[in-house]
Amino acid sequence: MKVVVLLVAIIVGAYQCHGSEHGANFQVFPLRMKTGLGGHYIPEVSCKSWRLGVEAHNVIDWKSIPEECVGYIGNYLLGDQYRSDSKTVCREAYLYAKTLNITAKDIWVFDIDETTLSNLEYYADHGFGVEPYNETAFNEWVNLGEAPALPESLKLYNKLVGLGVKIVFLTGRPLNQETVTTANLKHAGYHTWLKLIVKNTTLYSGTTAVTYKSAERKKLEEEGYNIIGNIGDQWSDLLGTNTGNRTFKLPDPMYYIS
Ligand SMILES: *[C@@H]1O[C@H](CO)[C@@H](O)[C@H](O)[C@H]1NC(C)=O
Ligand SMILES: *[C@@H]1O[C@H](CO)[C@@H](O)[C@H](O)[C@H]1NC(C)=O
Ligand SMILES: *[C@@H]1O[C@H](CO)[C@@H](O)[C@H](O)[C@H]1NC(C)=O
Ligand SMILES: *[C@@H]1O[C@H](CO)[C@@H](O)[C@H](O)[C@H]1NC(C)=O
Ligand SMILES: [Mg+2]
Repeated sequence: MKVVVLLVAIIVGAYQCHGSEHGANFQVFPLRMKTGLGGHYIPEVSCKSWRLGVEAHNVIDWKSIPEECVGYIGNYLLGDQYRSDSKTVCREAYLYAKTLNITAKDIWVFDIDETTLSNLEYYADHGFGVEPYNETAFNEWVNLGEAPALPESLKLYNKLVGLGVKIVFLTGRPLNQETVTTANLKHAGYHTWLKLIVKNTTLYSGTTAVTYKSAERKKLEEEGYNIIGNIGDQWSDLLGTNTGNRTFKLPDPMYYIS
């Protein structure tokens, strides 16, 4: 260990000496990641940065994933990292919930798509979000009612139910998908909940998810419920008003909903 530190120090020192010889070229980040040999573009470097930007809500209002990132995003989602990232989120949520004294009025809000249920199978067939959203094709998939649970969310759900927390599903899916969604949730392993709130597209015509979800959470609090936690894959699940005591952001580099 000491040898490595010494070696790094020597390299850094050498860089800095070299830099100061030329005055202005002082190397502030001598160990910085290169963008590629001779400045050539390495897609992976930039796709990771893009994903971080998305998850941190710095990159917003994007319509589809960058074309050069299809491979990177596909590998991320089908490999271990997506599951590991989801596990970290759900684990923190449970560790938090465990510290509370749960009352009969305490509820936890779960978003559905890419939170409770996973549409990864659909997106794997549609370029992981590189193809523009096709409402017809996506609704055909939803209406099959075969979306599996995101395993980490199902685990969190079961633990919260075990703690006595009541569950509310709040989704942008429309009223005409309520029946298939109910069946899909049960099929995926979610057997009990206080409410499943689907979007009344007449009432919320032309409103964003932030507006719709805030209004529905406000109604819940007006009914006397405390939203102790709120989990979703979109920032629009977690921003706005009545967001809950704590929010938990699951990863989703496939699409953006405002
Ligand atoms: C939960 O209740 C126990 C026993 O009544 C109490 O000691 C503890 O401080 C409470 N914890 C919280 C976070 O309110
Ligand atoms: C959208 O999906 C439908 C149903 O799968 C398909 O018939 C249609 O061609 C698709 N539209 C586009 C623009 O790809
Ligand atoms: C949806 O909203 C409209 C307009 O407010 C209302 O008339 C209708 O009853 C609502 N539908 C349901 C199922 O709540
Ligand atoms: C949750 O937030 C409400 C409103 O801000 C507050 O009254 C309540 O004590 C909070 N509960 C917990 C468990 O932090
Ligand atoms: Mg979602």
